[in-house]
Amino acid sequence: MRKVFILALTFLLVFSFTASADEIKIGSCIYRFNDAFMLRFRNAMSAESEKLGAKIEHADGQDNQITQNEQIDKFIADGVKVLIVNPVDRMSSQLIIDKAKAANIPVVFINREPPEEILNSYEKAYYVGAKAEESGTEAGQIIADYFKANPAADKNHDGKIQFVLLKGQNGHQDMILRSKYSVEAIKNAGIEPVEIASAIANWDKLQAMQIMNAFTMAIGPENIEAVIANNDEMALGAVEALKNSDYNKGDKNFYIPVVGVDANASALDAMNKGEMLGTVLNDSDNQGAAAVKLAYALASGGDVKSIGYEITDNKYIWIPYQKVTRGENK
Ligand code: BGC
Ligand code: CA
Repeated sequence: MRKVFILALTFLLVFSFTASADEIKIGSCIYRFNDAFMLRFRNAMSAESEKLGAKIEHADGQDNQITQNEQIDKFIADGVKVLIVNPVDRMSSQLIIDKAKAANIPVVFINREPPEEILNSYEKAYYVGAKAEESGTEAGQIIADYFKANPAADKNHDGKIQFVLLKGQNGHQDMILRSKYSVEAIKNAGIEPVEIASAIANWDKLQAMQIMNAFTMAIGPENIEAVIANNDEMALGAVEALKNSDYNKGDKNFYIPVVGVDANASALDAMNKGEMLGTVLNDSDNQGAAAVKLAYALASGGDVKSIGYEITDNKYIWIPYQKVTRGENK
């Protein structure tokens, strides 16, 4: 009896040892740590890895593709079982795929969508994200709904919306398609959009604030009827600039509707204070969980069809966007 017990104990010890030696290591490459949305995303991935008992390590690409390439090489040399990559430059994804392919490990891209032909060049390459056009459409609809509910928002009474556009980093699918589809959505709602100024503020709050300060000085806040920002950080930068001109401080007569995308906590806060009109939820919790679940299944030989997220074309997991407004804005 005692012998059996000792044998069982030995087995348990050996088993638990092998289990930890086999622990799935995930190498996660983030384009830049200092990005409010990617911080949310990173936290969601860490939480999901912990749930699954996988080990995830995040590397900060510092907005530099060369730095990120080196981090990928290092992860591969360290023996990670799978890579999750938020490319600095999505057009450089082929190089990343080539590295993963040479090491025969799967790669799950997130947030920055590689061109289709690049993703298709490796059967173990996937993309987890959200459809950029959807967020653009929803942001545009929030603005159009506001104009329909508040005729006085058309300050110069011309039936058109004179708007300012703040764009994210050049080449990002969310910069290109959000810009395009938010304007399109206003048109589709039967109102003519008129772009009076636009600039690239690189997803960044400070840059957006400086640009918006310059725009309000040049144009006059009374001549701006809406601000459309490709993300919340830039929307919040615009709000700061408007507040410098004594706009968006609670007086309805000195107010410019501002929309963003992401639904960051700071944006929801600004909405509650009446400083910002609305945003679109960019669901980092679900995107992060899906990316890690997929990576884990790929690395452990599990069934990718049973992770609880639909995989389209054997390649894509799409997480829906969702409009967020305060009731009284409608
Ligand atoms: C988010 C931005 C973020 C960017 C990073 C976008 O999907 O809306 O807030 O800066 O991704 O790639
Ligand atoms: Ca107008």
